[in-house]
Amino acid sequence: MLFRQLFDPETSTFSYLLADPVSREAVLIDSVFEQLERDVKLIEELDLKLTFAAETHVHADHVTASGRLRERLGCQIAVSDAAPVPDADLHLKDGDQLRFGALRLEVLATPGHTKGCVSYLCRDAGMVFTGDALLIRGCGRTDFQEGDATMLFSSIREKIFSLPKEVTVYPGHDYHGRLVSTVDEEERFNPRMGLEKSVEEFVALMGELNLAYPKKIDIAVPANLLCGLSVPLASPDGASDSSGAVAVVMEKSGRQDAEIWMGVGI
Ligand SMILES: [Fe+2]
Repeated sequence: MLFRQLFDPETSTFSYLLADPVSREAVLIDSVFEQLERDVKLIEELDLKLTFAAETHVHADHVTASGRLRERLGCQIAVSDAAPVPDADLHLKDGDQLRFGALRLEVLATPGHTKGCVSYLCRDAGMVFTGDALLIRGCGRTDFQEGDATMLFSSIREKIFSLPKEVTVYPGHDYHGRLVSTVDEEERFNPRMGLEKSVEEFVALMGELNLAYPKKIDIAVPANLLCGLSVPLASPDGASDSSGAVAVVMEKSGRQDAEIWMGVGI
């Protein structure tokens, strides 16, 4: 398999390009709007055909490039069916597969950081892409987008820690210069949800994090619900009408809980 790990330094986001070296079909996981030209250039240089722009979830810290990638390269956008992204092409369920040439990614529903989080397992290569559900020695926060610490704990234990120990874990971010981990390492050394931790300890810890309001959430979430194709403008005082923008998109998915979903009050 052809594989590239790509990094956006502003948001410490990893994107992953996977491709079948024979058919040249490719998947890009968790693209970043500001890195669109870099990634299109790479895909063209490697003579790849982008089949899917796949999201692990609706990101709150960066805007996706998936909509622009679809416009430019004709790929399909894949996202969890539990995420209200009405214009995505594929609304993924646990057990679904993304096929690209002779290769495939298996969809593992790993909700908890957000309700619409999935991980992608490339079983043949022994690689799992966990988004923000499982980070290296950490995990994503659980205080917006229907986040739920108990659910996240179950997702990691049942869907990720049940994989073979040698499977390599590729996270959605790292803020400390690390690139990759393994199931075995995270079981042993993850200070939040390693095998020595109980669900009660984990839920208590996540409830005491007192994290700051995410810097880009008011821009990123409304834009990402539209595959990154609409970036609402901030008002002069720096605030943006995010709840209104989110409500409009979510109503297309038949949902009226935008304010709760955004985690107002965090
Ligand atoms: Fe996230």
